[in-house]
Amino acid sequence: MPQPTKKVYSSLELIKDSWFLIKGYRLKFVFYSFICVLSSLMPFVIAYCLGQIVDFFVGYSSGQSFISFYSFVGIIAAAGVFQIWSRFFVKWRLYYIGGQLRMKIRVMAMAKLADIELKWHEKEETGSKIQKIASGGESFFQLLKFYIDSGIPIVTGIVGGLVALFFMDAKYVIFTAAYIVIYLTGEYYFNKKIAYWADRLNVIKEKLSGKIHETASNILAVKTLGIKSALKKSVEDYEREYFETTLKNREANQNKFRTIKIFSALVYAAFIFLIGKDIIAGIISVGSIVIFVGYFDRIKSALDNITNHVTDFIELKSGFGRIMILLDKKTIEKDSYPYLDISPEWQALKFDKVGFKYKDKWIFKNLDISIKRGEKVGIVGRSGTGKSTIAKLLLGLYEPQKGGIKIDDMDILNAKNSSLTKTISIVLQDSEMFNMSLKENVTITSGKDIDSLTFQKAVQTAELEELINRLPQKENTLIGERGYKVSGGERQRIGIARAIYKNSDVLVLDEATSHLDSKTESAIQNNLKSLLEDKTVIIIAHRLSTLKDVDRIIVLDNGKVIEEGSFDKLLRDKGKFYELYKLQRSRGAI
Ligand SMILES: Nc1ncnc2c1ncn2[C@@H]1O[C@H](COP(=O)(O)OP(=O)(O)OP(=O)(O)O)[C@@H](O)[C@H]1O
Ligand SMILES: [Mg+2]
Repeated sequence: MPQPTKKVYSSLELIKDSWFLIKGYRLKFVFYSFICVLSSLMPFVIAYCLGQIVDFFVGYSSGQSFISFYSFVGIIAAAGVFQIWSRFFVKWRLYYIGGQLRMKIRVMAMAKLADIELKWHEKEETGSKIQKIASGGESFFQLLKFYIDSGIPIVTGIVGGLVALFFMDAKYVIFTAAYIVIYLTGEYYFNKKIAYWADRLNVIKEKLSGKIHETASNILAVKTLGIKSALKKSVEDYEREYFETTLKNREANQNKFRTIKIFSALVYAAFIFLIGKDIIAGIISVGSIVIFVGYFDRIKSALDNITNHVTDFIELKSGFGRIMILLDKKTIEKDSYPYLDISPEWQALKFDKVGFKYKDKWIFKNLDISIKRGEKVGIVGRSGTGKSTIAKLLLGLYEPQKGGIKIDDMDILNAKNSSLTKTISIVLQDSEMFNMSLKENVTITSGKDIDSLTFQKAVQTAELEELINRLPQKENTLIGERGYKVSGGERQRIGIARAIYKNSDVLVLDEATSHLDSKTESAIQNNLKSLLEDKTVIIIAHRLSTLKDVDRIIVLDNGKVIEEGSFDKLLRDKGKFYELYKLQRSRGAI
């Protein structure tokens, strides 16, 4: 049997988390719950009146007034009407709150996705995140429904039944209490197993959804690599595991049903037997059998209700627990106090003795890089030395384990996220496109307030005009997953345009022109030259010719700076850079 990776999400956690989430609706929630409780107490009133009516007729002697009979009938009618009215009035309102909260939770979870550290995202599959959000939000709504339809009737049934019996005859309270304790112990014992399987089911569901999403979104890779059958097999494996787990879940359920229901039926018969004996002995009236059995019935049906719905509850609770994994993730709202704004007058950017590792392997142990404002710096080095990591560290996407990255004297980890992303723009080798028009893709950082002039400038600088002219609806053409498919080089140019439009102080180009032909690349470089005169630019590139015009080139190897200087100086020094240059030239790459 596979062991659970984490303990099952507890009911106490559920209550705490729900109370936190219903903030803003708490008062209404408590009020409507109270009406629901009153409504589910009505059957007790009805049972009591029925008993009184039976006693009235049993002891009736001719000529006696019917007034008490009419009164009880009236109360029965009023209780019935109240029960129906409250069901419609309150339930509808609680469902409404539930719907609102479902919306709120999904939106919160979506927003949270952007806040959670990158390391977590790298471990989770996209489909699994989607499943968490979709089913988690729905679970909360269903849990609220469960609370109204079953939770309240169960608690009022048991508590109300015991209290009512207590007022009638304490002996029956002991009998019934013993019954309840044994029943609930049985439930607890069986439900532990069921909860385990329910949790497994949710985990498998997420994995399945992750696999399906992965296949659907990487369809090109799947086709070109011919890995359909391998993927199909892994989906099949998960599906089989899912099916087998549902069977285990069902089996555990059936065992429980059988045992508990038989026990319950026997206790019910024993209860009636006890009452019958008391009536024969003349201890209680005939009408009491209606009242007692009526109360006992409420308790029994409350317990039945537990047995019938607890599995759904466990599954919903587990689903809700899964979304709480997301909502609970410790993320700091990095845009609020005590995070700071980066001074617009900042002068230097510094990697100060930075040590960083993703998992176990250190990428840098003691990296020192200092860049003055306005400087143009190139970074070269073998593939895998950590050039892109430098770019990611600069944006605070990961935290160094040692040392710090500073803007003047301020560690960037103390900076507001919005301030940092405003100051630094990074263009990666592969810019991601959103399902939006080309124009929206470029101007995405400014939301709806598009500055058309800056957009035009960005388009010209990134040499995008020719592409735009070719597109059916020009810059308003939809690109991205469902739209016009832009080529790798076009994507890079859109990425560059996006960064230019953003107009940050620091621009990091990480292999941002690697897919472009040399002519377009140098055209863009020329365009950038005047535009970026007063900006700080960091260019990461394999093609050394890209770096001809920078002020300084940093050569990295094994996580260390091994050479530094201008293009010409490095050539004169005849070190690693020179060798690399010679190699590229002999291959005609320069
Ligand atoms: N998210 C990650 N998790 C674990 N390891 C990573 C992660 N990203 C990068 N690495 C590893 O860290 C090392 C440095 O990666 P990085 O992307 O910074 O290299 P690079 O110098 O940019 O290489 P390239 O020139 O090929 O782009 C590599 O060995 C890479 O496998
Ligand atoms: Mg890289």
